[in-house]
Amino acid sequence: MTPRALLVGAAFGAGLASLAWAYPEGSPWGAADPAADEHCASCHWERQPVMASRALDLDGLPKRVTAGQEYVLTVTLTGTDAAVSGFQLIASAEGQPAGRFKSADRDVESAAIGAQIRSTATRPTTGDMARWRLVWRAPAKLDGPVTFHAAASAANDDGSPFGDQIHYREFMREPLQRPKKKGPLAPKD
Ligand code: HEC
Repeated sequence: MTPRALLVGAAFGAGLASLAWAYPEGSPWGAADPAADEHCASCHWERQPVMASRALDLDGLPKRVTAGQEYVLTVTLTGTDAAVSGFQLIASAEGQPAGRFKSADRDVESAAIGAQIRSTATRPTTGDMARWRLVWRAPAKLDGPVTFHAAASAANDDGSPFGDQIHYREFMREPLQRPKKKGPLAPKD
C-alpha cells in the first residue's frame, strides 16, 4: 500500500471501507459522457479530468460506418501515470443509444439495455498502455452521425476514487450513404 493510500484510508476510515465495494461491477452506466449528471469525474474529482484526451483512443472504426455492420474495436489508454485503469464507452445517435456492444475481452461487459460497455475490474498498465477489446454492431438503420463517448481512468490502484485522473474523448462517425434511388425530382425554389 502506498503512503497516500494509508493516509486516505486513515482519514476516511469506515466510510471508505463501505465505499470500497460501492461499484464492484464497474463504473455506473452513462458515466463516460462528461455531460451526464453523474460522470466519472463527479466522483473521481481530486484531479482535473483531461477533456478530448489524446491519451485515450478508439481503433477499428472506418471513416464512415455501415448500418448493421460489426466492428472489432480497441480502446487504449497510453502514456499516463496509471498503475491500473478502467474504461467505459457509449454509442449514441440523435441522443438515442446506437447499435449494440459485445465484449471481446475478459473483465469487460456490455449493458443489458442500450449501447454501452465497461470494464468490470481494473487492468494493470503494461508497457505504459491499457487495452480493451470489444465489438460494436451498428444499428440496422443509420440516418445521422454516431457519437462515441469514451472515458478511462488513469488510476493509482488504491481501491478508492481519489488520486485517479479521468480522460474523456469523443469520437464521431458519419454513416456510409448508399446511393439514393431515383425518385421524383425535388421541386426547385
Ligand atoms: C458515483 C461515483 C462514481 C462514478 C460516477 C465513477 N466512479 Fe469509479 N470509483 C468510484 C468509487 C467509490 C471507487 C472505489 C471503490 C470501488 O471500486 O467500488 C471507484 C473506483 C474506480 C477505479 C479503481 C480505482 C483504483 O485506484 O483502484 C477505476 C479504474 C474507476 N473507478 C473508473 C471509473 C471510470 C472510468 C468512470 C467513468 C466511466 C468512473 N469510475 C465513474 C466511484 C465512481
